[in-house]
Amino acid sequence: MSQPTPDQLQIFLDIATEAAMAAGAILQTYWGKLDAVEEKGRPGDLVTVADKEAEAVILKVLRRHVPHHAILAEESGQGGDQQSKYRWAIDPLDGTTNYAHQYPIASTSVGLLIDEIPQVGVIYNPFRNELFRAAKGLGATCNRRPIHVSNTSTFNQSLLVTGFAYDRRETPDNNYAEFCHLTHLTQGVRRSGSASLDLADVACGRLDGYWERGISPWDITAGVVLVQEAGGTVTAYDGSPLVLKSGRILATNGQIHDQLSQELLKTPPLSSWN
Ligand code: IPD
Ligand code: CA
Ligand code: CA
Repeated sequence: MSQPTPDQLQIFLDIATEAAMAAGAILQTYWGKLDAVEEKGRPGDLVTVADKEAEAVILKVLRRHVPHHAILAEESGQGGDQQSKYRWAIDPLDGTTNYAHQYPIASTSVGLLIDEIPQVGVIYNPFRNELFRAAKGLGATCNRRPIHVSNTSTFNQSLLVTGFAYDRRETPDNNYAEFCHLTHLTQGVRRSGSASLDLADVACGRLDGYWERGISPWDITAGVVLVQEAGGTVTAYDGSPLVLKSGRILATNGQIHDQLSQELLKTPPLSSWN
């Protein structure tokens, strides 16, 4: 397993940027002009023409530059050579519910796993024209300026963010108790509706920590690289190495990591919360 050179990573970063910007243009084109919004299966799990066309344009860019790499894309699933050590994890529109309601918090997320390790990430929010980029060992930027995680070290002064997966009505493991518990202990817990932007906001220091369950690799691959390269920490809830397929992630500025981990693990059930 040889690690790509910085020059190779830079090339992949530029390909991811081209793809994310092209998808962002599609999101702007359909903004406020959706004729129909479909449900994909679970109630509230929406898909629009913008999701589909944005994904198509990302795949076109990847097929042109790296035709043999593996693909994992939210709307079309697996593609390319599944034996490749390079796997692109793509969320063409992260924040579809917001987008469908014209609530302008949504993005395109393009990440690259090399040997199953997140190594390149680009997240583009066309509504704020913010382009977040990172690659392993090359640092993290927003609109080409270096970014860094926050310096908050006092837990009760931290501002957190989380999300709720579409299976939340079907399982007691729905993150409601954690949301209440952490709201009680900190300056607040936000719920933006876009996991990739949650990670980007931790990376640039606007937020101090993020956790979520039921999340997919396309939601978080790019954001994981951003937080790590911005000096933050990304693990499983218990502080052990992140397992992308577990659907659970804890990402912080590093300083509040242990305490957030401990509080997540000891969250009392909702019935006993007051
Ligand atoms: C969703 C968003 C949301 C998170 C959900 C995701 P989508 O992605 O990232 O913040 O809480 O778990 O599924 O459906 O808008 O691509
Ligand atoms: Ca998503
Ligand atoms: Ca999506």
